[in-house]
Amino acid sequence: MPFISNYSLKNLNTFGIDVNAKLYVDVSTEADLKDVFASPLVKENKLLVLGGGSNMLFTKDYDGLVLKVNIKGINVIQQGDDVLVTAGAGEVWDILVKYCVAHGYAGLENLTLIPGTVGASPIQNIGAYGVEIKDVLESCTAFEIATGEIKTFSKADCEFGYRESIFKGKLKGKYIITSVTYRLSKIPNLQTHYGAINTELERRGIANPTIADVSNVVAAIRVSKLPDPSTIGNAGSFFKNPVIDQQSFDKLLSNFPDIPHYPAPNGRVKLAAGWLIEQCGFKGMIDGHTGTWKNQALVLVNHGGATGQEVYRFSEKIIETVRQKFGVLLEREVNIF
Ligand code: EPU
Repeated sequence: MPFISNYSLKNLNTFGIDVNAKLYVDVSTEADLKDVFASPLVKENKLLVLGGGSNMLFTKDYDGLVLKVNIKGINVIQQGDDVLVTAGAGEVWDILVKYCVAHGYAGLENLTLIPGTVGASPIQNIGAYGVEIKDVLESCTAFEIATGEIKTFSKADCEFGYRESIFKGKLKGKYIITSVTYRLSKIPNLQTHYGAINTELERRGIANPTIADVSNVVAAIRVSKLPDPSTIGNAGSFFKNPVIDQQSFDKLLSNFPDIPHYPAPNGRVKLAAGWLIEQCGFKGMIDGHTGTWKNQALVLVNHGGATGQEVYRFSEKIIETVRQKFGVLLEREVNIF
């Protein structure tokens, strides 16, 4: 596991931004992690831990050490009606989903085709079509940078929120996720309430869906709405859906009666950032080498050769326009480096 200087990150971020890391190292076991952290190079350089690179925008070369977690493996550790499946942090997320669907383990099917790796799933509590990681996570293990020890976190320890966890909060930069265990079930409790899933199942004439049916339908919905990062650089939703208080929402609703909204914890209201952005005329807009996706305004894309600076400036323009029209401040979901 050698340290490599001046390493291109172009193929390691789904936005396809062409930047270099001053130093790069790849780890495939927990023992590798220990070895890396025994090196003085780690103390001398700032550190960026990379999984699938599917939720980040590089605006410049990374002047430090990029550590790619490549720890693989999918293992069933308990069988019954409930099935506990443990996956290495570097396992590609959708490979895990396909494995579980093929074996009849229910719980991850709504999360089909999300780009990225297993290790990122608890960090930002990935979610789609009515299911979040917090609904299925049993525990995860993580390497503590300060001590070199592997610690286990229960679901409660992870302090999950909407696209949030303790690993993005007070433990940021302190741990590296090494594996995640999911509690799945052989008795499916299918979540098809998210509008588009039911509509698509009906359209296909499927009255009693299986896990595979739900997975296929979710895949079809994603493909129809979201650009495929292997052909068009993107990092999924660029912004979070904003959550505002009821009073601010009531004011907005009187001016924009058809504004999509969903109940959020603590009596707050979640808005659809994609709708707000589309109402500002940005949907499908091309701005130099960047723009928003034609079928989903919440997704910023690299049409080829975009720099991270260019995408970032375009996102500033969107934030400012939405703020002026709706008085709502969009927050980036994507990590900026
Ligand atoms: N909408 C528009 N115009 C758009 C996009 C959306 O009007 O250009 C409206 C839709 O019509 C709908 C509402 O906004 O009324 C919500 O849209 P959608 O169902 O597409 O989902 P989203 O809220 O935009 C979230 C997640 C996605 C996830 C989908 C499906 C966030 C930030 N994004 O998007 O996650 O796939 O729900 O569950 O929560 C990601 O995090 O990278 C991601 C893709």
